[in-house]
Order: sequence, then C-alpha cells, then structure tokens
Amino acid sequence: MKDKAIGVFDSGVGGLTVVRSIIDILPEEDIIYLGDDARGPYGPRELDEVRKFAREIIEFLLGFGVKVIVIACNTATAAAIEIVQSEYDIPIIGVIKPGVRAALRKTRTKRIGVIGTVGTINSGAYERVIGEIDPEVIVVSRACPEFVDFVERNETHGSRIEKIARSYLEPMVTQGIDTLVLGCTHYPLLEDLITDVVGPGISLISSAEETAVEVGEILDSLGWKRRPDNRSSLMFLTTGDVQKCRELGRMFLGPEVEDVIKVRVGEPALEIIEHFEQMKGRKA
Ligand code: DGL
Repeated sequence: MKDKAIGVFDSGVGGLTVVRSIIDILPEEDIIYLGDDARGPYGPRELDEVRKFAREIIEFLLGFGVKVIVIACNTATAAAIEIVQSEYDIPIIGVIKPGVRAALRKTRTKRIGVIGTVGTINSGAYERVIGEIDPEVIVVSRACPEFVDFVERNETHGSRIEKIARSYLEPMVTQGIDTLVLGCTHYPLLEDLITDVVGPGISLISSAEETAVEVGEILDSLGWKRRPDNRSSLMFLTTGDVQKCRELGRMFLGPEVEDVIKVRVGEPALEIIEHFEQMKGRKA
C-alpha cells in the first residue's frame, strides 16, 4: 500500500488548497487530483446530486488503486462523508471535522462563525459536528455564495468584493464570534480581505492544513506512509476545461501544476492510469 497514491477530489480547482497543504506536510506522497469542473460548482446543487457525484468520483479514483481518498470540498463532505465512509473499506477523509477540531482548539468564547456555500450551510453539517464534540458552542453560520465566483475570476481584492464581504461578515462579528471557519475550499484565497473586514481579533480557520495533518496521521497509523526520500508525482485531472484549470490551478497551488488531463468520470481510465505509472517510474 505504501507506494500507492493519495486520491483527492473537489468540484473544481478549490481543493488544490488542500493539495498544497498535503504537499507541504507529506512531500514524499504521490497525489492524483480530480477537479469536477464540468459539474462544479457544487454549492448551489442538491445534496443528493452531489452525493451521487462523490460516489462516481470515488469509484473512478479507486481505479488508480489509491490508498486513501480526501474529499477536498466542503459541500461534497457535507453531502456524502458519512455515507461513503460506511460504503467503502478505504479510508476517506473530509474537510469538515479537521476544520472543526482546529476551531474548537482556538475559540475562547465558544462562539464560532462558519461560512461556506449554500449547500454546506443549509446541510447543517458544521453545527452537527461541532455539537457532537462540544454542545455548549454557539455556531453562527452564513452562506457566502458570491465568494466562489470572485475567487475564480481572481478578484480577491477591491471595492466590489469588499462590499459583499462586509454584508456577509459584519453581522457575524456583531454576534460576538471569536473564531471563523473558512468552510469552503476557495475562501483561504480571501484570507487577507476577510481579516480586513472582521478585524485581527477573530481567528480564521482553514481546514486545509488540518486535513493534511489527519491524512498523515492515518497513513502513519496504518504503516502506509512512503519513505521520506521518495520523489513524488502530482497528476491533475479535470472533467472540464484544461486551459482554464491550468491557469486557476497555478493560482491555487503554484508551479507544481504542469499538465492537466481531461477525463470523463464513469469511463475507463486505463490510458491515464498507465500514464500515471510512467510518471511515477520516471521519478523513482
Ligand atoms: N469546493 C466547494 C466547497 O468547498 C466550493 C465550490 C463549489 O461550490 O463547488 O464547498
């Protein structure tokens, strides 16, 4: 198992913020990333439909023999994590619990804000997970549907987005939160703007790093971690537009994004699987 890759997926490129943390914390691991850009964003979709997509992508990634799967999308985690964890034997990690654990460690006032897509916030997943761990915590949540489009246009500063951010976030500040969970993969790219709006007294929590730490802990506990001197490969797959993914991918992840390969989930990926084995062979 050690030399198998980690499979990571998201509705698009946003999950690359999680990949960034996995590369930083586990640089020796191979990663296969799938962005479901053709069907994303998931935020406005019904949770049943997102759950179906998540299952299809998990099946697709299993074709590569991955050793663990990370659902690097809050909306897909909210829609599917418990169900898919019970359906598959392989470890499947979502982004909600790691973010919640970090927020609970940080809060002093036990008033935590959560922002995310409409799907994530309406699912009540954050309230549920926080309530199971500490029922005394008050959760103030808010959907911020316009943020994703702004990030994808690379408009992370300026008066237009600032005005929208104020309308979303100022009422949360008034409710006395001391910690704010960025419950969407795109929001870490808005960290500076969000800090300007909420002020330095509110701690921002991104689940990306915590999720990567959890992946490392699971691999460790199973004895599935690769040796630290291994050279790693990243394969970036998309169901959508290759050129757009490459550009956005560099913004989210950095220069590690080289080739982007178009795939169709649900169709055999034998050639791509072979290509990945060759990539790994070249780096071994
Ligand atoms: N990746 C999604 C999330 O973290 C944001 C983009 C979308 O709506 O699909 O919820």
